[in-house]
Amino acid sequence: MRPSRLRRSQLAVPGSSEKMLRKAAESAADHVFCDLEDAVAPIAKVGARDTIAWALNNLDWGKKTRCVRINDVSTEWCHGDIITLVEQAGANLDTIMLTKPMCVADVLFLDRMLNQLERKHKLERKIGIEVLIEEVQGLQNVEAISTCSERLECLIFGMGDYAASQGIDTREIGSNGSYPGDIFHYARFRITMAARSAGLDAVDGPFANFKNEEGYVTEATRAKSLGMVGKWAIHPSQIEPALRIFTPSARQVERARKMEAAYQEAEAQGLGAVQVDGVMVDVAVIRLARNTIAQADLYGL
Ligand code: COA
Ligand code: MG
Repeated sequence: MRPSRLRRSQLAVPGSSEKMLRKAAESAADHVFCDLEDAVAPIAKVGARDTIAWALNNLDWGKKTRCVRINDVSTEWCHGDIITLVEQAGANLDTIMLTKPMCVADVLFLDRMLNQLERKHKLERKIGIEVLIEEVQGLQNVEAISTCSERLECLIFGMGDYAASQGIDTREIGSNGSYPGDIFHYARFRITMAARSAGLDAVDGPFANFKNEEGYVTEATRAKSLGMVGKWAIHPSQIEPALRIFTPSARQVERARKMEAAYQEAEAQGLGAVQVDGVMVDVAVIRLARNTIAQADLYGL
């Protein structure tokens, strides 16, 4: 069974900044990924491993999902990132986020490394894998990637690198620009389908202009509508909007529980459909309501 984890707001934190790591631990985000990749300069990457391990071991992360984003398998840092983090902080690490996987083999490299390191360090809890779909090859192989490892928990759409990989004409990461329609619709839809089909979470990536809350809300709402469970925050100001958008409202939860109760009662009486407040509730409707109830349970509502 895959663990259910919180991922409504995935906060990106440069792993070289002790100050920001402290702020991240205290933040309201329910998932934090300590970054070793693009937010850390090449000269600081090796040192940042120790800083992140210290932060994971010594700060109070509350109920947050604790994740480390590592450099991709084509770099000289990938294997060292995995070894140092698991060796120093494996017991305090929930997941590792792999950047730029192109194909199944890239994910299996991380999976096999974790097998060896967990045995070596006698870790009792398995470390999960989250992957960033941010290359055109990665998107083309997303279905195969999504089922290649038992450790997989989450697929994330990384639209910044993805735009560069495809040659999309954009100047601001995460924005729709002047494209007539939603420029990210296809990628989000395909990634969310692959994720759901494999029993994984799907999460939406960054929105760089953190002063533009309206733009962030538009993009997060689109992701939520398609079935994604959260969105990145690259700045603390983006945490609250993500939590608001990806948490079902008290009214939605109350209604879902009311539907569930009415449906169970109907079923006991041999009925397949019933009405609740003028709306038909049958097997399909109850599935939607149960999605809301599952979220409410996960978020402690
Ligand atoms: N995590 C934790 N704390 C953060 C943060 C983050 N991602 N981004 C900013 N903060 C802190 C700042 O340190 C600052 O703290 P202070 O008030 O105690 O000084 C406060 O939040 C307000 O930040 P602000 O001054 O508005 O921005 P900044 O100029 O310090 O930082 C960025 C702006 C973009 C450099 C910063 O938000 C950042 O590094 N974001 C993450 C980038 C990243 O991880 N990219 C890779 C994934 S796309
Ligand atoms: Mg990237």
